[in-house]
Amino acid sequence: MGTPTIPWATINKVRTTLILVFLLLLTPSCRGEQKQKGKKGRGIKCPWAEGDPFSLSPFPEDINLHRGKRRLIDENERGSNTILSDSLINGFWFSVPSSPRNFNAELTSATSVKLTWDAPAAANGALLGYYVYLDRIINGEPAVDKNSKKRMVMIKDSTKRYWELDNLDPNTEYSFRLNGFNRNGDGEFTERKNVVTQGIPPEAPEITSVSLDRDEPPVVSRIEWKMPKMKPNETPIEKYNLWLRPQGYPDSYIKSKTVDGTDLSTTISGLWMGVVYDVLLGAENREGRSQNATETIATPVGSPDGEPIGVQYEVMKGKIVVSWRPPPEEKRNGNITSYKAILSAMDESTDRFEKMVPAPSTSSTFEVNVRRAYLFKVAAATMKGIGPYSPVLTINPDPAG
Ligand SMILES: *[C@@H]1O[C@H](CO)[C@@H](O)[C@H](O)[C@H]1NC(C)=O
Ligand SMILES: *[C@@H]1O[C@H](CO)[C@@H](O)[C@H](O)[C@H]1NC(C)=O
Repeated sequence: MGTPTIPWATINKVRTTLILVFLLLLTPSCRGEQKQKGKKGRGIKCPWAEGDPFSLSPFPEDINLHRGKRRLIDENERGSNTILSDSLINGFWFSVPSSPRNFNAELTSATSVKLTWDAPAAANGALLGYYVYLDRIINGEPAVDKNSKKRMVMIKDSTKRYWELDNLDPNTEYSFRLNGFNRNGDGEFTERKNVVTQGIPPEAPEITSVSLDRDEPPVVSRIEWKMPKMKPNETPIEKYNLWLRPQGYPDSYIKSKTVDGTDLSTTISGLWMGVVYDVLLGAENREGRSQNATETIATPVGSPDGEPIGVQYEVMKGKIVVSWRPPPEEKRNGNITSYKAILSAMDESTDRFEKMVPAPSTSSTFEVNVRRAYLFKVAAATMKGIGPYSPVLTINPDPAG
């Protein structure tokens, strides 16, 4: 027969070379896993690449051997090199933590979730911590959304028994799972726990401008704003609520207005002059109201449109004391700085007394001959000028005076 005989030594050489080539092929995937966290096979450590031999289970009957074996095969599925895996696995067993126990996920607010668990039954070495995974569920499936926020959280604390995630998207189903890790890699996953977040009220809008469309009565202010930032699945804004609160006046003077949820500006008319207004703007959806965005606007000061009211007099100890109240708030057109009070004798036009009464005082005393009759009037002034006089008041002579 022409069958060539191959020396035993050659067979041995070929086998050794093949094993070396296999080892070389394997090494980059071990390095690769250091960079490619989150990819398949993440966290598997390669002792031969790290100079870290046999951080492995020495007992072939250990249940975690199978886990280690399966993971290593998974790692090599890319090359479909099951023979390589098998033969290597005979020498290198990886033990990773079993799944954390009693995993649970519950809503702690509309968009916050608290995960709780107990340590794995078998840490298989020093437990180094946990990985928390969250997926958005869309149409019943975990969504593949590369742009979404972090889908994994590493907890480098093996004593940790809970984790809180807040600021999740509203009205969204999330799926959570967890595993522990040790120096050999990631352990077994818990089962998934799904939680559906609830709706939330909108964030506050941003007021971009407050100005005056008209700066004399009736004063008109224009308010413009930007829509608040919205999260995915947030319910739409139904309306905006606007308040203009005059500083230094009771709440009953607040002007308010409701604006359609699609509008981004509005005007509000009938503001008083000479007043600083707090502008408060909030957004509202089905779930409720946002915080208020705040701004202020000052309307220009004018001279008063109204006269002092409630003017009355008293004659006491040979003096005439006249008192009054400021004009109504909506007619002051600014802070009243002073009053001009005029008393004149009825019978003699030259007998005339004029007084500037600084605010906030609202009375004046005249030392005159109280046996005569007088006429009295008073007007309020702002820094811009003087307003109308009150109706003339007749002061009768005092027979006893
Ligand atoms: C009016 O007076 C109040 C307090 O007396 C002051 O805080 C406010 O700034 C004044 N307004 C104007 C327009 O001068
Ligand atoms: C916004 O301001 C209005 C008017 O002052 C007030 O009634 C409302 O409670 C405020 N909203 C919030 C969320 O503070």
